[in-house]
Amino acid sequence: MSLRLVEVHKAFGSKQILKGFTLEVREGETLALIGASGSGKSVALKHIIGLLQPDAGEVWVDGRRIADLERSELYEVRRNVGYVFQFAALFDSMTVGENVGMGLRRIPGMSEAEIQERVRESLRLVDLPGFEDRYPAELSGGQKKRAGLARAIATHPKYVLYDEPTTGLDPLTKTVIDRLTIRMRKELNVTGVAVTHDMDSAYRMADRIAMLHDGRVRFVGTPAEIQKTEDRVVRGFIEGRPELVGEYQ
Ligand SMILES: Nc1ncnc2c1ncn2[C@@H]1O[C@H](COP(=O)(O)OP(=O)(O)OP(=O)(O)O)[C@@H](O)[C@H]1O
Ligand SMILES: [Mg+2]
Repeated sequence: MSLRLVEVHKAFGSKQILKGFTLEVREGETLALIGASGSGKSVALKHIIGLLQPDAGEVWVDGRRIADLERSELYEVRRNVGYVFQFAALFDSMTVGENVGMGLRRIPGMSEAEIQERVRESLRLVDLPGFEDRYPAELSGGQKKRAGLARAIATHPKYVLYDEPTTGLDPLTKTVIDRLTIRMRKELNVTGVAVTHDMDSAYRMADRIAMLHDGRVRFVGTPAEIQKTEDRVVRGFIEGRPELVGEYQ
């Protein structure tokens, strides 16, 4: 069981963003997806849950091709894929508990007591115990990110897609969130894809790192492998040296 994007092409108007993007995420691993701002990382993630459809190429989740699914089947797949949005995306008019419980209420046959218990458990896992009755406006940025993470894991998904879970946070909170990602894998056996700009974070939590460049996966390998690579574009990116990456000159 895995996530697979195969030769995915995606354009918006005349702007070609993905140009044959191929990536397999293996069961049980956490894969970090890196790449310049605007390179298409969020676009790639959105294909996995069918928020975007490829112009060409295929997306597979657990051996099922997303394009073949009926609407009800797509919802079933989405229940197995938690999505931590780049900008927390909590509903301001709802409490934290209601936000976290949203996906659970769509599961047929789940009692209110079971929902409350899951919400409690999810908030505990992200170190926000007892935050059920707060409103998003009462949370700090880091707490909002963690609440978004609690919502993504509440349904006990097999996969979690994290879109920049640590961007804009202080170094301590970053480390806490990285550890949470590691905990998701260890305690809930989650397979994860984490978009990040933070190389320290990628080295800490990822089993493998994939770099998106010019619409394709330019490199995929372990943290040790990427640190040794001779590829000048990859080196330029991870070391923050634009002179190595041609088009920034
Ligand atoms: N729904 C959309 N309609 C039109 N253009 C879009 C849409 N979504 C993304 N784009 C464009 O696709 C490109 C890639 O966007 P994307 O959000 O995937 O970048 P990213 O790699 O996630 O960047 P960042 O690191 O800044 O979040 C950008 O040029 C963006 O403007
Ligand atoms: Mg993005």
